[in-house]
Amino acid sequence: VHTPRVFSGIQPSGGLTLGNYLGALKRFGETQDRGDMPTIYCIVDMHAITVWQDPEKLNRATRELTAGFIASGIDPTKSILFNQSAVPGHAQLGWIFNCVARLGWMQRMTQFKDKAGKNSENVSLGLFAYPALMAADILVYHATHVPVGEDQKQHVELTRDIAIKFNNDYGVEFFPVPEPVIEGAATRVMSLRDGTKKMSKSDPSDMSRINLTDDADAIAKKIKKAKTDPEPLPETLEGLEGRPEARNLVNIYAALSGKTAAEVVAEYAGQQFGTFKPALADLAVDRLSPISTEMSRLMQDPAEIDRILAHGAEQANAIAEPIVRRAYQIVGM
Ligand code: ADP
Ligand code: NA
Repeated sequence: VHTPRVFSGIQPSGGLTLGNYLGALKRFGETQDRGDMPTIYCIVDMHAITVWQDPEKLNRATRELTAGFIASGIDPTKSILFNQSAVPGHAQLGWIFNCVARLGWMQRMTQFKDKAGKNSENVSLGLFAYPALMAADILVYHATHVPVGEDQKQHVELTRDIAIKFNNDYGVEFFPVPEPVIEGAATRVMSLRDGTKKMSKSDPSDMSRINLTDDADAIAKKIKKAKTDPEPLPETLEGLEGRPEARNLVNIYAALSGKTAAEVVAEYAGQQFGTFKPALADLAVDRLSPISTEMSRLMQDPAEIDRILAHGAEQANAIAEPIVRRAYQIVGM
């Protein structure tokens, strides 16, 4: 029986999007504030370098993401907040998991297929092995709950398979089998330009996403230009079936306002997007602008951000180190 503990991470590989906020950061803060489980949140810089990163930009992105966590409500005195490369246990356990995970399991990862595309001979070996390192990120803390967006579900399932296989291979009950926690009104925020693609920081079109650092004008413009169909909002939620763009905007409104999608539809039933979009833009500006203001304020003191990360790394290492030591013993090292 394992004590409940929460772990999740985000890559410092570009600016944060509304998808990262609603699918991850906002929920990280809520989980922390419920206070029923210890929360560990990580800036996963070792994942970022699976694709080449300009070193100076990576450094800056790590600090900026730390500022994004804090501005979104993650309190470093309540949660452990640190960057992955500062705690050696991630890489150490990651190697063991490279030896536990099966090649066939890794080949089934859809995110690798998406990211590698047709060029899979030329991507890094790290990009392929990434989900085994992610398993180590979670299990090096014996975490039991992993809040993520829907796109990460398959990776958490792989983590479960790795935990089970390690325990079976060595005849121990050492690693917990963690649960993905995918909940809320916007577990998969879609592109504003294409209702079939997820909103992503790597989409070439900036109009496809809302960045946490966008100003009020940019947010309003992107929502105004968001793709929709010509129909008004339906009377009930079922009326959104087959209307992915409309559904996406309703989900975003629901997640930002704390209402359910059904409540939002009831509120705007029969109204045109010409009415709904400005309301959504006002809501988004209202919720996001304090975050971007706070991020810029925090970024003015990079030394303080570094101190927060160093302190978090110390706390994280205190948990990870004995777990790695024990894992090595179990393996016979
Ligand atoms: P990205 O996918 O933006 O490159 P990460 O892979 O670092 O970022 O993901 C960080 C977290 O944000 C994960 O929990 C992921 O599921 C979540 N996330 C990313 N994009 C979205 C989205 N469009 N909708 C909901 N959650 C998302
Ligand atoms: Na992702």
